[in-house]
Amino acid sequence: MDLLGVVLAGGLGSRLSPLTKVTNKHLLPVYDRPMIYYPITTLTRAGVRDILLVTGGNNAGDFLRLLGNGREFGLTHIDYAYQEGEGGIAAALSLARHHARGKGLVVILGDNIIEDDIEAHVEAFRRQGRGAKILLKEVDDPERFGVAELSGDRVVGIEEKPARPRTRYAVTGIYMYDDKVFEIIAGLKPSARGELEITDVNNAYIARGELTFDFLQGWWTDAGTFESLLRANLLAAHKRSDARPRDEGAADPGLR
Ligand code: G1P
Repeated sequence: MDLLGVVLAGGLGSRLSPLTKVTNKHLLPVYDRPMIYYPITTLTRAGVRDILLVTGGNNAGDFLRLLGNGREFGLTHIDYAYQEGEGGIAAALSLARHHARGKGLVVILGDNIIEDDIEAHVEAFRRQGRGAKILLKEVDDPERFGVAELSGDRVVGIEEKPARPRTRYAVTGIYMYDDKVFEIIAGLKPSARGELEITDVNNAYIARGELTFDFLQGWWTDAGTFESLLRANLLAAHKRSDARPRDEGAADPGLR
Protein backbone atom coordinates (compact mmCIF):
# COMPACT_ATOMS: atom_id res chain seq x y z
CA MET A 1 0.00 0.00 0.00
CA ASP A 2 1.50 3.34 -1.06
CA LEU A 3 1.04 6.00 1.60
CA LEU A 4 0.51 9.74 1.50
CA GLY A 5 1.22 11.75 4.65
CA VAL A 6 -1.30 14.50 5.39
CA VAL A 7 -0.39 17.21 7.90
CA LEU A 8 -3.36 19.31 9.01
CA ALA A 9 -2.21 22.79 9.95
CA GLY A 10 -5.27 24.99 9.50
CA GLY A 11 -7.60 26.54 12.05
CA LEU A 12 -7.56 29.91 13.74
CA GLY A 13 -5.70 28.82 16.85
CA SER A 14 -8.10 31.00 18.82
CA ARG A 15 -7.33 29.30 22.13
CA LEU A 16 -3.79 30.69 21.77
CA SER A 17 -4.77 34.29 21.02
CA PRO A 18 -2.97 36.74 21.01
CA LEU A 19 -0.03 34.48 20.01
CA THR A 20 -1.97 33.52 16.91
CA LYS A 21 -3.21 36.99 16.00
CA VAL A 22 -0.55 37.51 13.34
CA THR A 23 0.65 33.99 12.65
CA ASN A 24 -0.54 30.41 12.34
CA LYS A 25 -0.44 28.24 15.48
CA HIS A 26 1.74 25.66 13.72
CA LEU A 27 4.48 28.22 13.08
CA LEU A 28 4.88 29.05 16.77
CA PRO A 29 8.06 27.84 18.46
CA VAL A 30 8.22 24.55 20.30
CA TYR A 31 11.60 24.74 22.02
CA ASP A 32 14.03 25.37 19.17
CA ARG A 33 11.89 24.64 16.11
CA PRO A 34 8.62 25.73 14.56
CA MET A 35 5.79 23.44 15.72
CA ILE A 36 5.18 22.11 12.19
CA TYR A 37 8.65 20.47 12.06
CA TYR A 38 7.57 17.92 14.64
CA PRO A 39 4.65 16.23 12.82
CA ILE A 40 6.61 16.32 9.56
CA THR A 41 9.52 14.57 11.22
CA THR A 42 7.12 12.02 12.76
CA LEU A 43 6.06 11.12 9.22
CA THR A 44 9.52 11.02 7.65
CA ARG A 45 10.86 8.87 10.49
CA ALA A 46 8.07 6.40 9.73
CA GLY A 47 9.16 6.28 6.09
CA VAL A 48 6.35 8.53 4.80
CA ARG A 49 8.12 11.00 2.52
CA ASP A 50 5.31 12.13 0.23
CA ILE A 51 3.30 14.76 2.06
CA LEU A 52 0.33 17.09 1.65
CA LEU A 53 0.20 20.03 4.01
CA VAL A 54 -3.26 21.55 4.49
CA THR A 55 -3.40 25.04 5.91
CA GLY A 56 -5.54 28.17 5.72
CA GLY A 57 -5.89 31.68 7.05
CA ASN A 58 -3.61 34.62 6.32
CA ASN A 59 -0.24 32.95 6.78
CA ALA A 60 -0.38 30.10 4.28
CA GLY A 61 2.54 31.56 2.31
CA ASP A 62 4.79 31.33 5.36
CA PHE A 63 4.62 27.52 5.22
CA LEU A 64 5.99 27.53 1.68
CA ARG A 65 8.74 29.91 2.75
CA LEU A 66 9.61 27.69 5.72
CA LEU A 67 9.32 24.23 4.16
CA GLY A 68 10.01 24.91 0.49
CA ASN A 69 10.18 21.70 -1.53
CA GLY A 70 10.77 19.65 1.62
CA ARG A 71 14.17 18.25 0.58
CA GLU A 72 15.75 19.58 3.75
CA PHE A 73 13.46 17.24 5.69
CA GLY A 74 14.14 14.23 3.51
CA LEU A 75 10.76 14.53 1.77
CA THR A 76 10.52 13.28 -1.79
CA HIS A 77 7.48 15.49 -2.41
CA ILE A 78 5.38 18.09 -0.65
CA ASP A 79 2.14 19.60 -1.87
CA TYR A 80 0.15 22.36 -0.25
CA ALA A 81 -3.63 22.74 -0.03
CA TYR A 82 -5.61 25.72 1.21
CA GLN A 83 -8.68 25.34 3.44
CA GLU A 84 -11.27 28.11 3.30
CA GLY A 85 -12.83 28.90 6.67
CA GLU A 86 -13.13 26.62 9.67
CA GLY A 87 -14.81 23.42 8.58
CA GLY A 88 -13.21 20.98 11.02
CA ILE A 89 -10.55 18.30 10.76
CA ALA A 90 -12.55 16.03 8.46
CA ALA A 91 -13.27 18.94 6.10
CA ALA A 92 -9.54 19.74 5.95
CA LEU A 93 -8.78 16.09 5.23
CA SER A 94 -11.28 16.02 2.36
CA LEU A 95 -8.93 18.39 0.49
CA ALA A 96 -6.50 15.47 0.14
CA ARG A 97 -8.92 13.65 -2.17
CA HIS A 98 -7.24 14.75 -5.40
CA HIS A 99 -3.78 13.99 -4.07
CA ALA A 100 -4.54 10.53 -2.68
CA ARG A 101 -5.12 8.66 -5.97
CA GLY A 102 -5.84 5.35 -4.27
CA LYS A 103 -3.05 5.63 -1.70
CA GLY A 104 -3.52 5.03 2.00
CA LEU A 105 -3.31 8.12 4.22
CA VAL A 106 -1.30 8.75 7.36
CA VAL A 107 -2.90 11.86 8.83
CA ILE A 108 -1.33 13.87 11.63
CA LEU A 109 -2.60 17.01 13.30
CA GLY A 110 0.01 19.75 13.03
CA ASP A 111 0.07 20.35 16.79
CA ASN A 112 0.60 16.72 17.84
CA ILE A 113 4.07 16.08 19.22
CA ILE A 114 5.26 12.65 20.29
CA GLU A 115 8.31 11.10 21.85
CA ASP A 116 8.64 7.87 19.90
CA ASP A 117 8.37 7.08 16.26
CA ILE A 118 5.32 5.50 14.68
CA GLU A 119 7.06 3.33 12.11
CA ALA A 120 5.78 0.03 13.57
CA HIS A 121 2.19 1.33 13.58
CA VAL A 122 2.45 2.56 10.01
CA GLU A 123 3.90 -0.80 8.94
CA ALA A 124 1.02 -2.59 10.69
CA PHE A 125 -1.44 -0.43 8.75
CA ARG A 126 0.36 -1.17 5.48
CA ARG A 127 -0.07 -4.89 6.21
CA GLN A 128 -3.70 -4.35 7.20
CA GLY A 129 -4.10 -2.92 3.69
CA ARG A 130 -7.58 -1.41 4.17
CA GLY A 131 -9.87 0.26 6.69
CA ALA A 132 -8.45 2.52 9.37
CA LYS A 133 -6.11 2.52 12.33
CA ILE A 134 -5.98 5.02 15.20
CA LEU A 135 -3.42 5.50 17.96
CA LEU A 136 -4.55 5.79 21.58
CA LYS A 137 -2.87 7.12 24.69
CA GLU A 138 -3.99 6.88 28.30
CA VAL A 139 -4.27 10.41 29.75
CA ASP A 140 -5.38 12.14 32.94
CA ASP A 141 -7.67 14.63 31.19
CA PRO A 142 -9.64 12.59 28.63
CA GLU A 143 -12.50 15.11 28.52
CA ARG A 144 -10.27 17.31 26.30
CA PHE A 145 -10.13 14.69 23.53
CA GLY A 146 -11.91 12.05 21.52
CA VAL A 147 -12.29 9.16 24.00
CA ALA A 148 -12.31 5.51 22.92
CA GLU A 149 -14.34 2.77 24.55
CA LEU A 150 -12.70 -0.65 24.17
CA SER A 151 -14.05 -4.17 24.35
CA GLY A 152 -11.26 -6.72 24.19
CA ASP A 153 -9.12 -5.82 21.21
CA ARG A 154 -11.78 -3.68 19.53
CA VAL A 155 -12.82 -0.05 19.76
CA VAL A 156 -16.59 -0.07 20.12
CA GLY A 157 -17.16 3.68 20.08
CA ILE A 158 -15.53 7.10 20.30
CA GLU A 159 -17.04 10.13 21.99
CA GLU A 160 -15.77 13.62 21.18
CA LYS A 161 -14.86 15.56 24.32
CA PRO A 162 -17.40 13.84 26.61
CA ALA A 163 -18.25 15.59 29.90
CA ARG A 164 -18.08 12.17 31.60
CA PRO A 165 -15.50 10.05 29.76
CA ARG A 166 -16.07 6.28 29.93
CA THR A 167 -12.32 5.58 29.74
CA ARG A 168 -9.01 7.45 29.88
CA TYR A 169 -8.01 6.41 26.36
CA ALA A 170 -7.57 9.57 24.30
CA VAL A 171 -7.63 9.34 20.52
CA THR A 172 -4.40 11.00 19.44
CA GLY A 173 -4.25 13.14 16.33
CA ILE A 174 -2.60 10.42 14.25
CA TYR A 175 -4.98 8.51 11.99
CA MET A 176 -4.50 6.04 9.14
CA TYR A 177 -7.19 5.54 6.48
CA ASP A 178 -7.79 3.86 3.18
CA ASP A 179 -9.23 5.93 0.34
CA LYS A 180 -12.82 5.13 1.39
CA VAL A 181 -12.38 7.93 3.88
CA PHE A 182 -13.42 10.46 1.24
CA GLU A 183 -16.81 8.77 0.70
CA ILE A 184 -17.28 8.68 4.46
CA ILE A 185 -16.50 12.39 4.84
CA ALA A 186 -18.84 13.24 1.96
CA GLY A 187 -21.68 11.61 3.95
CA LEU A 188 -21.01 13.45 7.23
CA LYS A 189 -23.26 16.09 8.75
CA PRO A 190 -21.77 19.00 10.71
CA SER A 191 -21.70 18.51 14.48
CA ALA A 192 -23.27 20.84 17.06
CA ARG A 193 -20.18 23.07 16.78
CA GLY A 194 -20.72 23.27 13.01
CA GLU A 195 -17.69 21.15 12.02
CA LEU A 196 -17.14 17.87 10.20
CA GLU A 197 -15.69 15.78 13.02
CA ILE A 198 -12.85 13.30 12.64
CA THR A 199 -14.50 11.35 15.46
CA ASP A 200 -17.51 10.75 13.17
CA VAL A 201 -15.15 9.41 10.50
CA ASN A 202 -13.62 7.00 13.00
CA ASN A 203 -17.05 5.90 14.25
CA ALA A 204 -18.05 5.19 10.62
CA TYR A 205 -15.05 2.84 10.30
CA ILE A 206 -16.07 1.18 13.60
CA ALA A 207 -19.56 0.62 12.15
CA ARG A 208 -17.95 -1.09 9.14
CA GLY A 209 -15.85 -3.27 11.47
CA GLU A 210 -12.69 -1.83 9.89
CA LEU A 211 -11.03 0.21 12.62
CA THR A 212 -7.98 -1.12 14.46
CA PHE A 213 -5.93 0.62 17.12
CA ASP A 214 -2.52 0.60 18.77
CA PHE A 215 -1.33 2.34 21.92
CA LEU A 216 1.38 4.98 21.60
CA GLN A 217 4.23 4.07 23.90
CA GLY A 218 6.13 7.29 24.66
CA TRP A 219 4.70 10.66 25.67
CA TRP A 220 2.21 12.50 23.48
CA THR A 221 0.90 16.03 23.68
CA ASP A 222 -1.05 18.47 21.59
CA ALA A 223 -0.14 22.15 21.76
CA GLY A 224 -3.35 24.05 21.18
CA THR A 225 -3.71 25.68 24.60
CA PHE A 226 -1.25 27.68 26.69
CA GLU A 227 -0.83 24.77 29.08
CA SER A 228 -0.27 22.13 26.42
CA LEU A 229 2.00 24.45 24.42
CA LEU A 230 4.17 24.92 27.49
CA ARG A 231 4.18 21.16 28.07
CA ALA A 232 5.16 20.56 24.44
CA ASN A 233 8.08 22.99 24.82
CA LEU A 234 9.32 21.31 27.99
CA LEU A 235 8.99 17.77 26.62
CA ALA A 236 10.72 18.70 23.37
CA ALA A 237 13.55 20.41 25.26
CA HIS A 238 14.08 17.41 27.54
CA LYS A 239 14.01 15.02 24.63
CA ARG A 240 16.60 17.12 22.80
CA SER A 241 18.91 17.36 25.78
CA ASP A 242 18.67 13.56 26.22
CA ALA A 243 19.60 13.07 22.59
CA ARG A 244 22.29 15.75 22.30
CA PRO A 245 25.59 13.87 22.83
CA ARG A 246 24.64 11.30 20.20
CA ASP A 247 23.37 13.86 17.71
CA GLU A 248 25.95 16.57 17.83
CA GLY A 249 26.96 17.69 14.39
CA ALA A 250 24.06 15.99 12.60
CA ALA A 251 22.79 17.97 9.64
CA ASP A 252 19.15 16.85 9.69
CA PRO A 253 16.95 19.88 10.50
CA GLY A 254 14.18 17.58 11.71
CA LEU A 255 13.96 15.85 15.05
CA ARG A 256 15.80 12.78 16.10
C1 G1P B 1 -8.99 16.96 17.90
C2 G1P B 1 -9.99 15.82 17.75
C3 G1P B 1 -9.96 14.93 19.01
C4 G1P B 1 -8.54 14.44 19.25
C5 G1P B 1 -7.56 15.62 19.33
C6 G1P B 1 -6.11 15.14 19.38
O1 G1P B 1 -9.42 17.85 18.89
O2 G1P B 1 -11.28 16.37 17.55
O3 G1P B 1 -10.82 13.83 18.82
O4 G1P B 1 -8.49 13.68 20.46
O5 G1P B 1 -7.69 16.47 18.18
O6 G1P B 1 -5.20 16.20 19.45
P1 G1P B 1 -9.01 19.43 18.91
O7 G1P B 1 -7.73 19.50 19.69
O8 G1P B 1 -8.84 19.84 17.49
O9 G1P B 1 -10.14 20.11 19.59
